[in-house]
Amino acid sequence: MSAQAKQAENRTHFAGDLSTPEPIPEAGIEAALRLMRNGRLFRYGEDRSGPSEAAMLEEEFATLTGRRYCVAVNSGGCALYVALKSVGVSPGDAVLVNAFTLAPVPGAIEHAGGRAVLVDIDDRYVIDLDDLEAKAKSSGARFLMLSYMRGHLPDINRVSAACERLGLVLIEDCAHTLGATWAGRAAGSFGEVACFSAQTFKHVNSGEGGLLVTDDDDIAARAILRSGSYMLYTQHRARPPAAVFERHRYTVPNCSMRMSALAAALIRPQLPALPGRAVRWRAIHANLVARLSQIPHLCVPPRPAKEGFVPSSLQFSLTGLNVTQMRSFVAECRAHGVYLKWFGEDRPEGFTSRHDHWRYLRQHWPTPNADRILAGLCDMRLPLSLSEADCWTVAAVMEESMKAAWEAGRDESQV
Ligand SMILES: Cc1ncc(COP(=O)(O)O)c(C=O)c1O
Repeated sequence: MSAQAKQAENRTHFAGDLSTPEPIPEAGIEAALRLMRNGRLFRYGEDRSGPSEAAMLEEEFATLTGRRYCVAVNSGGCALYVALKSVGVSPGDAVLVNAFTLAPVPGAIEHAGGRAVLVDIDDRYVIDLDDLEAKAKSSGARFLMLSYMRGHLPDINRVSAACERLGLVLIEDCAHTLGATWAGRAAGSFGEVACFSAQTFKHVNSGEGGLLVTDDDDIAARAILRSGSYMLYTQHRARPPAAVFERHRYTVPNCSMRMSALAAALIRPQLPALPGRAVRWRAIHANLVARLSQIPHLCVPPRPAKEGFVPSSLQFSLTGLNVTQMRSFVAECRAHGVYLKWFGEDRPEGFTSRHDHWRYLRQHWPTPNADRILAGLCDMRLPLSLSEADCWTVAAVMEESMKAAWEAGRDESQV
């Protein structure tokens, strides 16, 4: 839309870009330059090289998350795959997973040869514990991939208790929950293993990157070997004793999913910045929620007091609108500078796909609540650069878009 057309229309327009990442701290840029100058981009040396950036990152990340061991890999999706294989998922094994998650999660289950068993969600967008119990029993699954999609945490104490009762190994997908807590305890400290992402839109950014943490000797050794350590595992610092690797070095394949020293160098100086970033993200989220809650047909579910979330994005449900109105609302917002994603689209688009789009799944388990909720679910990024005035503008665009969308489809039946 041209500047003149925008003015003539008399509508608010947001000129920013919600997908703007934070710059890499200067210390990371300097470390990256040093590496490029000496060429040591591979995480392993053979002789006389000191600890690599990747080994140091693993040590620091293990400390940060309160875990004994950490393995850095090339993406969050690969961390999930390595985790699944390292806890013993074999071809054909059922893996429970909440139906609201992102494509790399069922992708990792498929990659590991597992069979995804979709579990329903509740109105807070998190796993439904009754359905978890029912599906665990009917599928005979021994594994739960618990995805904290978009940073929404279930009652993890109750999930952990259910896993114990049902004999499930818990793998936490913490791609959106670095620094988040449930009842004061860090997400990523509940399961046998937890996985994080360092893809650009996450809490730390190296473009691509994944980190797996665990306290278990054998899981850690298998993960290091599978990540592609070329038997150079003694160069890892957050690792179990060498004797543990003797148990696995002949049976675990080298899958070459290493994190490069360069990615690690970019992440390391971001770790001390996390608490400050969390405060800023919470303030932006609260600011927007206060304004969005005034808009009709737009519902932001309340977050429980026990949930210490670090919202790098915001989700809300469209209610009392038909499909034409929802589509028109999203299009109006986009046309006025607010890029929203909508999980109700027929086709998978960008980052937004729905479980029924994953047609490679061997079975589609019924998830009626997820189907209803995803039909009206919207998602937006929260860049740390969003000022208070930006929040006003974004909210104004949404309010005006809602009015326009309501008018556009009012003759059609409501959902
Ligand atoms: C919920 C969730 N899990 C896992 C991942 C995988 O992360 P990556 O993009 O690093 O593979 C993502 C990526 O966005 C995600 O949203």
